[in-house]
Amino acid sequence: MFYRISFFVVVSALFSACADADKGETSSQDENAVAQINLPDTVFYWQHIAPVLFENCTPCHNKNGAAPFPLTDYIDAKKRTKTIREVIAEGIMPPWPADTLYSRFKDEKTITQEEKSLILKWIDQDVPEGIVPNKKPTPQLFAVKALGKPDLILEFPDTIFIPGDNRDKFRLAKIPFEMARDTIIRAISFVPGNRQLVHHVNGHLINYPEGKKKDPFAGEWIKDAEEVNSLTAYREMKIPNDDGTYPPLLVSAFNYLPGVEPPTYPEGMGTVFLNKKGTFILNTLHYGPTAIDTFDLSRIEIYFAEKRPERPFKELQMGTLGETPVVPKFIIEAGTVAEFSTRYRVPQDMSVLTINPHMHLLGQDFIAFAVSENKKDTIPLIHIPKWDFRWQYFYTFKHILKIPKGYEIVVNATFDNTINNPYNPYAPPKTITESGKHMKTTDEMFQFFITYVPYRTGDENIEL
Ligand code: HEC
Repeated sequence: MFYRISFFVVVSALFSACADADKGETSSQDENAVAQINLPDTVFYWQHIAPVLFENCTPCHNKNGAAPFPLTDYIDAKKRTKTIREVIAEGIMPPWPADTLYSRFKDEKTITQEEKSLILKWIDQDVPEGIVPNKKPTPQLFAVKALGKPDLILEFPDTIFIPGDNRDKFRLAKIPFEMARDTIIRAISFVPGNRQLVHHVNGHLINYPEGKKKDPFAGEWIKDAEEVNSLTAYREMKIPNDDGTYPPLLVSAFNYLPGVEPPTYPEGMGTVFLNKKGTFILNTLHYGPTAIDTFDLSRIEIYFAEKRPERPFKELQMGTLGETPVVPKFIIEAGTVAEFSTRYRVPQDMSVLTINPHMHLLGQDFIAFAVSENKKDTIPLIHIPKWDFRWQYFYTFKHILKIPKGYEIVVNATFDNTINNPYNPYAPPKTITESGKHMKTTDEMFQFFITYVPYRTGDENIEL
């Protein structure tokens, strides 16, 4: 019986191989590779498993890492075999929801089919340790890129209390600043205080125009994003200018996800300007569940640039609140699975660096591509077959991707508003409508962001 189950797991894992192309190889090579997998008769921890875990898991799963427990020694892995089997068989870990057969990105967090099968076989064989090497290999840890010393550190105004009720939490916070003069910056890094609980952060930036805001520090700084819509929250946090108008908002000035380094970009390309007075808005500050009461005190580290970027980034925002409408009207009836689309005709050759699909808890499937006018050429952008709201990466291409003038960017997404969706915030399901600019986490969104610069000859050779 035991063997039959394990055989089934391995075989089904082999057939789902398509989701996990070997790093850096093309899909046809991968299929061959799958056919040739030759597993050792006995899989040993130190010989076979440690190298896989130490390369692909420990960057997050270490004692000070972003994941909830370490996987840096035999005993750590042995304790968790049941959940490790689940997450490996279902492709949940390492976390990388994008389909690697559709498009490839920088810093993918994936393991090969062979590595998967090894881990599953090792668990089936009751985790043999093997000979402990005299000198144990060193687990890889997540290394923050050397950005130097930050020029400005903005700490949360106070600690945030996180009750131990085993629920995900979503907060909205503002981190104001005031400096002697305007600046240009080259990198922003969010540094979580409570690394195990901060799950993701999406940070917007407001620069107050000269003379429009006396005190950016006035008002409340933190709100519960599940209880209050963002418009009310922004008002109570005194985010508008003193005359009540709204300053422009730079969406996604920075983002944080466990195990993701802040992006740095090629020479001459850059983006963000800071006015003397402004505020960061942590629009989604997501804490994972915890069983004990605890706290977080995180900070934002900012690195100034010496000169203005020659090619400042542009951002195309498609879908909800963006430049292109959602079709049909974004209403997801209770108890239904619904499909929506949004499209953009490219007016000028684009050099794309990074893309970011965004949905909330009802999202199910997401695909984006660009098609030529005669429909003969399709450029795949991204496919996420099983949406996971916890892992919203900003996917950066390995090289700049050119989308020629005249192509149409097409984005299709499916939303599951039935009881079959374990993340449905409502039981029984409620009809969800687009609530304009006043979003709560439990409202739904359908967005696609593209960071790009106007194309110049040779851009596609630039490595990111
Ligand atoms: C990018 C960071 C990252 C990497 C890489 C990563 N993990 Fe995780 N892992 C997490 C986080 C964060 C959680 C907490 C649950 C969540 O947020 O999805 C987690 C949760 C888990 C869980 C518990 C799941 C549950 O339902 O309780 C297991 C088991 C696990 N990881 C195993 C692995 C293995 C094995 C690897 C390598 C093959 C790996 N992880 C790679 C970040 C990571």
